[in-house]
Amino acid sequence: MSEPFQAMILHREDKRTIPSIESIDESRLPDGEVVVDVAYSSLNYKDALAVTGKGKVVRSFPIVPGIDLAGTVVSSTDPSFRPGDPVLATGWGLGETTWGGFAQRARLKAGWLVPIPSRLDAKRAMAVGTAGLTAMLCVMRLEAAGLTAEQGPVVVTGAGGGVGSLAAAILAEGGYRVAAVTGRPELGDSLRALGVETIVPRSEMETTHRPLESQRWAGGIDAVGGRILARVLAETHYGGCVASCGLAASPEMTGTVLPFILRNVSLLGVESVVTPFETRREAWDRIARVLAPETLDRLTRSVSLSEVSKLAEEVLAGRVHGRIVVDPSG
Ligand SMILES: NC(=O)c1ccc[n+]([C@@H]2O[C@H](COP(=O)([O-])OP(=O)(O)OC[C@H]3O[C@@H](n4cnc5c(N)ncnc54)[C@H](OP(=O)(O)O)[C@@H]3O)[C@@H](O)[C@H]2O)c1
Repeated sequence: MSEPFQAMILHREDKRTIPSIESIDESRLPDGEVVVDVAYSSLNYKDALAVTGKGKVVRSFPIVPGIDLAGTVVSSTDPSFRPGDPVLATGWGLGETTWGGFAQRARLKAGWLVPIPSRLDAKRAMAVGTAGLTAMLCVMRLEAAGLTAEQGPVVVTGAGGGVGSLAAAILAEGGYRVAAVTGRPELGDSLRALGVETIVPRSEMETTHRPLESQRWAGGIDAVGGRILARVLAETHYGGCVASCGLAASPEMTGTVLPFILRNVSLLGVESVVTPFETRREAWDRIARVLAPETLDRLTRSVSLSEVSKLAEEVLAGRVHGRIVVDPSG
């Protein structure tokens, strides 16, 4: 019988989501081949929706939220993992359909785990987390479609957030000229320190635009959707491509098809939840190579489980910059 451990558990009562921090034991954990001591998780936009109950993220209550986690293998019935192995997991329904990372211990399917690359540790792996994996998957998708740094500037929207900041940093490290769309002009210095060349005020991208605007961007990574994505497409070069991975502004897209049919622009969808293992491993290896530890540390703050609920409101209000790692032992 294992020692009890600390977990955040979401309950649903009278159509309200109620988070509570409880002491539980391993028998409560879902089935799986690998037990992991969780060193860190992270607070993503989707976690904020789950914890506040403001989005239909959680499919069955009670649940431990946290869509990603990193830590050390305690035991495994799968021969791919041994006690002491450093591992991480993102997506696969963690914190949505099965218990996630906001607990000191987790039990998961072996196929969900990726070894933590040797250049990262558990904390930096969660500084990257789902947001950074998604940012890298966007870059890989754009490059597979033919984008190169020589073609011109790449625009990143929601640049102050987790996906946006890490997308900007990855692109800049890869030699791309990066333009960052943000609604927070006060983040200019911090974004420039990541290698961003141009700051574009969000208000400029929200204004009504013509179906085709002057061609500014060779490519784009969009974390917000809505009018801003439509404008990015209208401003993309002939033959350029844009990766859409988020909806922080809106799930709708109010544009025309003219960028597609008159400029050969491509819109590429990116999801990180069920991305196959080999693609994940390639993305994590590249993340570990390109993102400097100092860059990750500068973008990250660490919080305890008791701080998560309040910060979730801040995330949804768009007031958080960079990444929040969650220490379940804190
Ligand atoms: N496809 C996937 O697998 C996947 C994976 C991870 C995340 N996502 C999605 O990607 C999006 C971003 O995630 P995140 O973790 O980066 O969230 P985040 O840290 O909360 O960042 C979102 C950013 O979007 C901008 N924003 C917020 N509200 C906005 C609005 N009304 N209009 C325009 N811009 C707005 C803000 O940036 P500024 O203040 O700089 O403007 C904010 O910092 C979310 O929709 C999330 O669900 C998808």
